[in-house]
Amino acid sequence: MIFEVNKVAKGFDTPKGRLEVLKEITFSVAKAESVAIVGRSGSGKSTLLSLLCGLERADSGQLKFDNIDYSTLSEDGLTSLRATKIGMIFQQFHLLSHLKAWENVALALELKGDKEAKDKAFNILKEVGLSNRENHFPNQLSGGEQQRVAIARSIAINPKLILADEPSGSLDESTGDEIMNLMFDLVEKHETSLLVVTHSDRLAKKCSRILTMQNGSLVQGASL
Ligand SMILES: Nc1ncnc2c1ncn2[C@@H]1O[C@H](COP(=O)(O)OP(=O)(O)OP(=O)(O)O)[C@@H](O)[C@H]1O
Ligand SMILES: [Mg+2]
Repeated sequence: MIFEVNKVAKGFDTPKGRLEVLKEITFSVAKAESVAIVGRSGSGKSTLLSLLCGLERADSGQLKFDNIDYSTLSEDGLTSLRATKIGMIFQQFHLLSHLKAWENVALALELKGDKEAKDKAFNILKEVGLSNRENHFPNQLSGGEQQRVAIARSIAINPKLILADEPSGSLDESTGDEIMNLMFDLVEKHETSLLVVTHSDRLAKKCSRILTMQNGSLVQGASL
């Protein structure tokens, strides 16, 4: 298993009292498996992803990635896990606006100490169909092109897992389909596991498994 999540809980203190968002999350993801997480708005999908990528810590339960227990990792350890083994794709792309397309991709590689970062960035941009856009800044790219750069950035580090939070949510239907097909082709080619949060039925159905976030737990199937 790439990921093992056991009885994980997470809540927030709010002015109106404690909000228990994730109550008992248990699931696992195998190597090269693709899993969709669906569920209504506010059910805790993004909160779960922030735990999985180590941006937030769980209140209780156990998270293991590639046999490493998150609770044994320091903040630096979690940052390094994210930089080297987990790729992330967001609805709003989250590219660095002052960096060109190739620099956005190369940065992830440079953080890993890769001396061939620039050459690799150019190659990966070619792989996502952007070979004539390397020197564009994010605001000079269309939404679909920005998401291609973000996908290139996430796959560049050769991660074991890609976490995607509504990757097609800001794109029109046909661009979204195109970009998602690209993402699925890449994860298949690189044998990367994929965990994707989505509101799109069609995207969810492309995954090998669908889980639904419901009342703070994950249940099998698309039971909405
Ligand atoms: N830092 C926080 N402090 C307090 N409440 C929070 C915090 N982060 C999230 N929440 C609450 O937790 C719940 C789950 O939020 P989350 O963003 O995980 O939902 P989601 O399933 O991703 O929804 P959407 O489909 O709209 O993106 C929401 O009710 C939200 O208001
Ligand atoms: Mg969300």
